[in-house]
Amino acid sequence: MYDLIIIGGGPAGYVAAERAGHKGLNVLIFEKKNMGGVCLNEGCIPTKTLLYSAKTYDNALHGDKYGITVENLKFDFEKIVARKNKVVRKLVAGVEGKMKSNHVTVVKGEAIIKGKNSDGIAVACGDENYLGKNLLICTGSEAFIPPIPGLAEAGDIILTNREILDLRQQPRSLVIIGGGVIGMEFASFYNSLGTQVTVVEMLPEILGGLDGEISAMLRDIYAKKGININLQAKVVKIEGNKVFFEKDGKTDSVEGEKILVSVGRRPVTKGFGLENLGVELFKGGIKTDEKMRTNIPNVFAAGDVTGFSLLAHTASREGEVVVNNLTARNDRMRYNAIPGVVYTNPEVAGVGETEESAKAKGLKYKVLKLPMAYAGRFVAENEGGAGLCKVLVGEKYGEVIGVHLLGNPSSEIIYGACIAIEQEMTVEELQEVVFPHPTVSEIFKETIFA
Ligand code: NAI
Repeated sequence: MYDLIIIGGGPAGYVAAERAGHKGLNVLIFEKKNMGGVCLNEGCIPTKTLLYSAKTYDNALHGDKYGITVENLKFDFEKIVARKNKVVRKLVAGVEGKMKSNHVTVVKGEAIIKGKNSDGIAVACGDENYLGKNLLICTGSEAFIPPIPGLAEAGDIILTNREILDLRQQPRSLVIIGGGVIGMEFASFYNSLGTQVTVVEMLPEILGGLDGEISAMLRDIYAKKGININLQAKVVKIEGNKVFFEKDGKTDSVEGEKILVSVGRRPVTKGFGLENLGVELFKGGIKTDEKMRTNIPNVFAAGDVTGFSLLAHTASREGEVVVNNLTARNDRMRYNAIPGVVYTNPEVAGVGETEESAKAKGLKYKVLKLPMAYAGRFVAENEGGAGLCKVLVGEKYGEVIGVHLLGNPSSEIIYGACIAIEQEMTVEELQEVVFPHPTVSEIFKETIFA
């Protein structure tokens, strides 16, 4: 009998397993592919590795801005992909090592939930049966494939985030359906390497959900870099390499050697016996409360399968909430300070309310903002680069309710803002914090004095 059985070894599952094992629980985790899930194997880590190669190339290509000229500059696409594979292998091995050092039993195979009775929750894998006091479901999400006429017939021209990672050759042209996070990160990578990239986005702006002003600035930067971005463009059919879309009442088409479909992801709730427990779903995902409990006692869910906040760091924290409550530490999930980062070049990062979300909730707030160039370090390292820092402050108490950044390295700065929001810090309290000089992070402090 295990204290905790976990299905799925992604950032929700493996972090929960590690924490639970560390706290002395007897833990079993099932994973049918590689440990690390989508994030480590075909998401966050491989894309960031590719994007780092692209950024290195970009820096060398535009090195003359910094007094550096590189002759005969070139990149080796196969080597870029090979390094990505090496990084993934190393980190997968790291996760496996953590399972071992925390005494977690790993079963490589497909788990099927058999049901719950007075003995516990029964899960089978092949011919083996396992019993757990508690079950944590972390089966993640998969790429949503929209019912666009001709898409299924287009064969291997069509890619999702999975197939695009293993291309052996750089496509000369790429059409991206969906200008969300996945779409814009691949747009950035391939644009840097010289592929002709076209984005077809149905909404009025790319990266919906982020601060609108910052999304528009990023779009402008990429338009100048040569990406063809079509907004309010609805894809109506695909014929071979051609994507047809309706825009402004007219039908237009664009051709790509490859077509990336990145129109969102869907929770994986089928194929592992969930129906044998009678777990309640909500909007396609498993419904949970703030302790990640489902409607069935001792059955929990964390990560993308809840369909709520499809981010690896949310998933890990949700897994931790489950483990803390199982080990006598009262904990609950809070979603008001979860950072969102887009690893384009320049990066975008934000946490808390955007102007759009604050308005929709009727919050009273004021906006403090400054160009990134107010931070000396940004000027030193981003010749001619545009950037912005925007801080939203509650009108009544002066507390920070949202921070949004455009410019490198926003991804590494934003956690400071997460702490400020999580701790409900006011602008006055933040003004007393000492920031290291010279750093780009000082823009945060500059802005709250603005
Ligand atoms: P997304 O939800 O971010 O973006 C999908 C986009 O496709 C939206 O802008 C939507 O309006 C558009 N769209 C939908 N149907 C369309 C159609 N028929 N024609 C044209 N446009 C259409 O989803 P995405 O990019 O696939 O990412 C999936 C998930 O993975 C997201 O929830 C994201 O948070 C997560 N992710 C996070 C990353 C990060 O944190 N840096 C990186 C990559 C993915």
